[in-house]
Amino acid sequence: MNVAVIGCGYVGLTTSVALACIGHRVHCIEKDTDQIKALQKGLVLIHETGVPELLSEVKERVSFGSWDSFDGDVDVIIIAVGTPRKKNGDADLVYVEAVARELGARLTGTSLPVIVNKSTVPIGSARRVESIVSLRLRERGVETPVAVASNPEFLREGVALLDTFYPDRIVVGADGDEAVRRLRELYAPLLEQSFVPPEFIPRPDGYRLPPFIVTTPTSAELIKYAANTFLAMKVSYINEIACLAEKVGADIREVAAGIGLDKRIGAYYLRAGVGWGGSCFGKDVQALIHTAGQYGLEMPLSSAAVYVNLRQREEIIKKLQTALKVIRGSTIGLLGLSFKPDTDDLRDAPSITIAGRLVELGARVRAYDPVAMDNCRKNYPDLEVEYTCGPDELASGADALVLLTEWKEFLQLPFSRLKNLMKQKVIIDGRNLLNAQEMEHLGFKYYGFGS
Ligand SMILES: NC(=O)c1ccc[n+]([C@@H]2O[C@H](COP(=O)([O-])OP(=O)(O)OC[C@H]3O[C@@H](n4cnc5c(N)ncnc54)[C@H](O)[C@@H]3O)[C@@H](O)[C@H]2O)c1
Repeated sequence: MNVAVIGCGYVGLTTSVALACIGHRVHCIEKDTDQIKALQKGLVLIHETGVPELLSEVKERVSFGSWDSFDGDVDVIIIAVGTPRKKNGDADLVYVEAVARELGARLTGTSLPVIVNKSTVPIGSARRVESIVSLRLRERGVETPVAVASNPEFLREGVALLDTFYPDRIVVGADGDEAVRRLRELYAPLLEQSFVPPEFIPRPDGYRLPPFIVTTPTSAELIKYAANTFLAMKVSYINEIACLAEKVGADIREVAAGIGLDKRIGAYYLRAGVGWGGSCFGKDVQALIHTAGQYGLEMPLSSAAVYVNLRQREEIIKKLQTALKVIRGSTIGLLGLSFKPDTDDLRDAPSITIAGRLVELGARVRAYDPVAMDNCRKNYPDLEVEYTCGPDELASGADALVLLTEWKEFLQLPFSRLKNLMKQKVIIDGRNLLNAQEMEHLGFKYYGFGS
């Protein structure tokens, strides 16, 4: 099939190279000219595992350009632009609506491509896009009906290609049969697993064919928000239990393992620590609460998930106050900036909130992250953080190290050497990544979460 993907960010680019890999011809439209220029040269500006390698493998079937390069002669158009959070918590549809206007101004013919909302959008957005496109088309004398489907994306950054090739399910919300038919055809190689997997993203052992769930646009839109809110609640739940575990002397890792073995609960997302961040959970939970508010409905569980999550960030400060007594004048080294490993994404990362709080409290804040430092410099120019070139420089003269991202390489850090570079041997493990006994044996004052 011929596909246009609008927006070449984490979702759009991953989707594009994956669709090209399973046999489609994909043209990506991006408004950022630097990104287009880089992608046309085969360079990927975001950090996402396997995407540059796959792009070079599928370069014959994927192309990049601005709106001027869009001729509308495709079977499916996938919208994958950002839907950031507005101040009132609602999702901002400004980019999605701009795309709808572009499409209304450009599409032509008697049979239009199916338009697909892959961006995470509030209830009613499929209809909203349809009405904007139709209105524009009618203004141009084009009376062809427009089909807009909702096809929420569930990929996780860091393993985005893995999740795209081997999804748990594919959800399509559409009012008409034609949109469902085309999307079933688009995803057939995934649904049947008939494609040849890239060598570096093999099919996981025991992977089962994903169900294709057909529903209404409204249900599909709600499925996405409900899924993210549930996961956010699960993380906040284990963090709430971790606070109690600390008080009563239980070990949250053992508690999580004990409850996670229950099939009704499941082991995922039960890791205590500094909590969730990233481009999705925070904004999606707030958008769900906002939508409910428009119906006069309170969402106490969802609101509590947000409250607990922010409290976890404050817990880091409290642990530093316990360990150092006085934060003003101390030097704190942040190990990790991205909201999770294997990404350079800093949106709603706990590191940004915590660095800001520490600066407010008079600390000198230094940081090291294997990939996210450039992004941090660019996107948070006012954050008073000194960037270091590695763990040694970070530890030199530090009163405490605070581990905020569970990068694998942090497990292998030479802590016995780092300890000797530090002024005070304090480590706050915001991800429960390290072994408490080993750290204490090395002479660190170790503070994890939930024990
Ligand atoms: N990042 C994730 O892990 C993830 C997972 C699931 C769903 N989502 C959802 O997918 C959507 C995209 O997320 P993302 O992380 O890829 O965002 P992103 O900010 O990384 O990428 C969006 C891209 O769209 C481009 N864009 C904006 N307006 C445009 C326009 N009019 N024409 C062409 N390009 C335009 C931007 O320049 C940017 O490159 C959001 O709604 C998000 O909530 C994200």
